[in-house]
Amino acid sequence: MTDILQPNPQGIACAAAILADGGLVALPTETVYGLAADARNGEAVARIYEAKGRPSFNPLIVHLAQAEDAQRYGIWSDNAEILATAFWPGPLTLVLPLASNHGLSSLVTAGLDSVALRVPAHPTSRAILQAFDGPVAAPSANPSGRITATTAAHVLAGLEGRIDAVVDDGPCAVGLESTIVGLTQNTPILLRAGGLPVEAIEAALGLQIDVADGAEIIAPGQMTSHYAPAAQVRLNAQNAQDGEVLLGFGQITGDLNLSPSGDLTQAAANLFDYLHALDALGKPIAIAPIPDHGLGRAINDRLRRAAAPR
Ligand code: TXA
Ligand code: MG
Repeated sequence: MTDILQPNPQGIACAAAILADGGLVALPTETVYGLAADARNGEAVARIYEAKGRPSFNPLIVHLAQAEDAQRYGIWSDNAEILATAFWPGPLTLVLPLASNHGLSSLVTAGLDSVALRVPAHPTSRAILQAFDGPVAAPSANPSGRITATTAAHVLAGLEGRIDAVVDDGPCAVGLESTIVGLTQNTPILLRAGGLPVEAIEAALGLQIDVADGAEIIAPGQMTSHYAPAAQVRLNAQNAQDGEVLLGFGQITGDLNLSPSGDLTQAAANLFDYLHALDALGKPIAIAPIPDHGLGRAINDRLRRAAAPR
């Protein structure tokens, strides 16, 4: 059952309570409706991918109530200060180097050492973020491969019964996702064109900004150099062979086990942390088979990339 909440104090309190409980709530922002979960709760974030039916793990944008919160999660710079001052709250997302002790689930960043942050301007999303008082991961609230949702009716058409609630506050004013600027290198780069014109960003920075890797700026997730272990990876392993460490699942125990009970949501929540932990041992990694349905498809997509020759 998906509840329809109103953008009044009760609806806002209810949305914040669902987030605190590890649930999923679709909320309006000025760009598009977002499918929100507590960004510190790996299983809640895993449920986002489950509800969207996303066959891969793309990093997600972390939404914050105010610009001051950003420095807890991302490493600040002069350009970050300029852009945050000029455009937050608003339809701009900044990708920053990940701060230490950020407390975010590694599923939010897909194991990368950068994080996408945004302070939305919509009064309802701001009120929910304030009431929840924590970082909120939210991709657009549409099933994978379907059109972005800009009304609560769009959200329900795609996700009814798969999420706890939607806050209905009418159509989104911008109707286009946020513009994403990468600030992880010396010069800012445009990772996705969106609701904030690039010209406005260039005027604030006083420089032209480069477009990431030429033509394709539609799906920055594809261009992101995804986290891959340094170690060699072998899939569908029933046991460890000489010198390997084993990442288990279900009855295949291993040095670490993604989910002893065979729960794919738990496995997704543990995936990047466990890969990092085993990678740190400096030995080849064998990985138990993961069922290829539901979230298992996204897990297997990521594992195939990790095992691909580099
Ligand atoms: O307007 C928006 O941005 C909406 C609302 C809900 O805020 N959100 C949205 O999220 O469009 P989503 O998940 O549909 O798109 C987020 C994009 C993805 O293409 C992802 O690859 C990119 O942001 N992204 C997130 N973290 C990143 C990172 N660390 N480095 C590069 N790209 C990143
Ligand atoms: Mg999207």
